[in-house]
Amino acid sequence: MKLCMIGTGYVGLVSGTCFADIGNQVVCVDNDDSKIKKLNSGISPIYEPGLNELIKKNYLAKRLSFSTNVKQSINSSDIIFICVGTPTKKGSINVDLSFVYKCAKEILKYTKKNKILVTKSTVPIGTGDQIENILKKKKKLFTVVSNPEFLREGEAIRDFRYPDRIVIGSNEKKAFKIMKKLYSPLINKGSKFFTTSRRGAELIKYASNAFLATKITFINELANLCEKSGINIEDISLGMGSDNRIGSRFLRAGPAYGGSCFPKDTKGLVSAANKYKINLSVVKSVIKSNHERINLLTQRVRKILGSNLKNKNISFLGVTFKPNTDDMRDSTSLKMIPYLCKSGARVNYYDPSGEKKELKTIKNCFYKNNIKSNCNDADLVILLTEWDEFKSIDFKRIIKNKKFKIYDLRNLYNAEEMKKNNIKYYSVGRPNIN
Ligand SMILES: NC(=O)c1ccc[n+]([C@@H]2O[C@H](COP(=O)([O-])OP(=O)(O)OC[C@H]3O[C@@H](n4cnc5c(N)ncnc54)[C@H](O)[C@@H]3O)[C@@H](O)[C@H]2O)c1
Repeated sequence: MKLCMIGTGYVGLVSGTCFADIGNQVVCVDNDDSKIKKLNSGISPIYEPGLNELIKKNYLAKRLSFSTNVKQSINSSDIIFICVGTPTKKGSINVDLSFVYKCAKEILKYTKKNKILVTKSTVPIGTGDQIENILKKKKKLFTVVSNPEFLREGEAIRDFRYPDRIVIGSNEKKAFKIMKKLYSPLINKGSKFFTTSRRGAELIKYASNAFLATKITFINELANLCEKSGINIEDISLGMGSDNRIGSRFLRAGPAYGGSCFPKDTKGLVSAANKYKINLSVVKSVIKSNHERINLLTQRVRKILGSNLKNKNISFLGVTFKPNTDDMRDSTSLKMIPYLCKSGARVNYYDPSGEKKELKTIKNCFYKNNIKSNCNDADLVILLTEWDEFKSIDFKRIIKNKKFKIYDLRNLYNAEEMKKNNIKYYSVGRPNIN
């Protein structure tokens, strides 16, 4: 099939490349000229394991192309996917749908023959109806479908190829048939194909993300209780997660949840419910608790280092919201680092995905390009992101300051080992053994 992905970000680029890899003709469009230039010279603008190779393979096979020309790309495709961002509006909890509606207007302008228009972006209930309204002048040419995306950054290619479910929402039966054909290589390998109304599909995405955010927040709050009551949170996670009704995933205590989806989608769901005068009190308290968690973690740093942070050297290992991605959106680091620097600390950071533009303007914050130079002067090392290369660091060898401490926000290290090595070690929800 001939596909056009509008928006060549984490979702549009990965799903476009993977659609090409299963035999479709795909053009990925973006209005960011620099992204398209990079892609046309063989460089992926995002860090995602395996993506560069897959882009090259499909580009050379002429199944995948990149363009800034919306008109031409729309005209040459049968199915158009909207994959643009849907961030939170500044100063509110409402979803900014301006990018989505702008796409719909462009699609209306350039479409001459029948098209299936699929929203992959995460959008609130009723957005498909609004899009249909924008397209009403050429109503007969369009079938508007919702196909929310569930891929996770860092594991996006695997998630595309083996999704737990493919959700298709439409009010027209013929759309299910076409979408089933498109996804048939994945369905044939065992992925569940689930059809519902368009509004239903829109809500499934928000409900899933809000539920996962709730699980994380729940275990993080229990970690606070464990820290005070001398219980190991990992035993609680294991004991709870072994129950099939609960499941073990998203039950690991750590920093606040972050990333490009959970923070904005929890707010987006509350905002959508407000419009129907429904009070989602559970989701509201998840948002509040997650916000408070960042304060709690920074206060914990003060407890570890003493209340005066002036001239303390703090080294972050990892600043992205999770490993195997370069995405910094709503990462806990973006709140912790400015606070610590403002309080007088000198912060170094190292992240395998490179220096971050978001941290460049912060006074007293410095990027280091390897673990050793990042940590060698540290009073405190904060492990924020569990990248593989942080798993077995010989801290005693690389840190000059003999009194350094470690605050492990992912419980990556073994507390007993740390004790044996005389390292002052703090983690999340585990009894303090120092
Ligand atoms: N990132 C994820 O892990 C993930 C997972 C599932 C769903 N989603 C959802 O998918 C959507 C996209 O997320 P993302 O992370 O890929 O965003 P992104 O910011 O990485 O990419 C969006 C891209 O759209 C481009 N764009 C914006 N307006 C455009 C226009 N009019 N024409 C052409 N290009 C345009 C931007 O330049 C950008 O490159 C969001 O709704 C998000 O919630 C994201």
